[in-house]
Amino acid sequence: MSETLGTDNIVVAAPVLHGYFAQLFERFGATGETAREVADHLVEANLTGHDSHGALRAPWYLEKIELGELDPKAVPAVVKDGPTTAVIDGGWGFGQPASRLAMQLAIDKARQMGVACVAVRNANHMGRVGYYTGMAARHGMIGLGCVNLHGASPCVAPFGGIDRRLPTNPFSIAFPTDRDPDFLADMTTSVVAEGKLQMRRNRGLQAEQNWIIDHDGKATVDPWDFYSEPVGALLPMGGVVAHKGFALSMAIEGLAGGLSGAGCSNPDANRHGNACWYTVIRIDAFTPLDEFKANVGKLIDHVKSSRKAEGIDEIFYPGQPEHFRRAERLSSGIAVDPQTWEWLARMAAKVGVQPPPGPLSGR
Ligand SMILES: NC(=O)c1ccc[n+]([C@@H]2O[C@H](COP(=O)([O-])OP(=O)(O)OC[C@H]3O[C@@H](n4cnc5c(N)ncnc54)[C@H](O)[C@@H]3O)[C@@H](O)[C@H]2O)c1
Repeated sequence: MSETLGTDNIVVAAPVLHGYFAQLFERFGATGETAREVADHLVEANLTGHDSHGALRAPWYLEKIELGELDPKAVPAVVKDGPTTAVIDGGWGFGQPASRLAMQLAIDKARQMGVACVAVRNANHMGRVGYYTGMAARHGMIGLGCVNLHGASPCVAPFGGIDRRLPTNPFSIAFPTDRDPDFLADMTTSVVAEGKLQMRRNRGLQAEQNWIIDHDGKATVDPWDFYSEPVGALLPMGGVVAHKGFALSMAIEGLAGGLSGAGCSNPDANRHGNACWYTVIRIDAFTPLDEFKANVGKLIDHVKSSRKAEGIDEIFYPGQPEHFRRAERLSSGIAVDPQTWEWLARMAAKVGVQPPPGPLSGR
């Protein structure tokens, strides 16, 4: 689901935005290497069309550093290690280095053993799960990942309920194909990522029908019914079959929250974080890699060959919209909404950093 841009955005070239973020994270205490890694992740999210996980997150991370919730110098550590398993403690630093370490470890172990699972706890927001499952696909393996919010920060109603009880709990699976790009499914188990609702609010736009309910459980398209007291809730993924999104979200609670030791969603948890569970499968432990890739390639051709519904020019497979969006935004630039831009500028002023002078333009 691509994001609706609205108007009055600040359009910035990707390398300029990257430099700005990296400078800010470093001034707020991160090493140069970590600052660049987090900047890479956020800019990549914007490039692939997921503005909910790009620039929008940068000032929030900086505020978390100020509040002492995010240690910019933390180095993730392996605290439990087995032949096919591991647990990583993120030291309440940025979530991205912890997830990268987890996925790298799972890839190395799967290369030796065929399959490996690695969990992460005590880490902050790690951004897009697909950024990490995609690492496995690039190594010719299958990557799976899912995330809960360390037991805290519910914003999604359970199926049949109207109160916030679960986070948006994302899930991703990626595998290599003989087509470009690889197959990469990466999605929330709520109808939409909360950040996409935030972007609509920031841009003065309405939500889509059936994204949210107000505090009394009534359907609404006003994002403020979700954000202002008394708060409403997002709905689980699935529309008329939302019990399926709800079921998947609860399953993720057990894997990401339960196995990592971070905890499943519960009323006593009050520290927002990302607990993760990653699995990597070495394909040639089951079947020759080339055969697997060719099989998936045929599947892609098969689904794309369907007659198209009215108004549809092309049938895409998961990972393809992001691939096209990336090429577009590398040339057109990244549109940052004015509220996020101002929030960033306020944080930048605290450490004497000037917002980039250009190339900028309104759009
Ligand atoms: N770290 C966190 O706490 C957290 C929480 C929630 C979500 N997220 C991330 O938010 C991101 C956005 O999630 P989302 O659910 O809004 O994504 P989305 O709805 O935009 O896309 C979901 C999936 O559908 C595919 N897709 C989209 N449009 C398509 C089309 N027209 N045809 C075929 N396939 C299509 C995409 O390739 C993707 O795999 C994800 O990267 C997720 O990992 C992170």
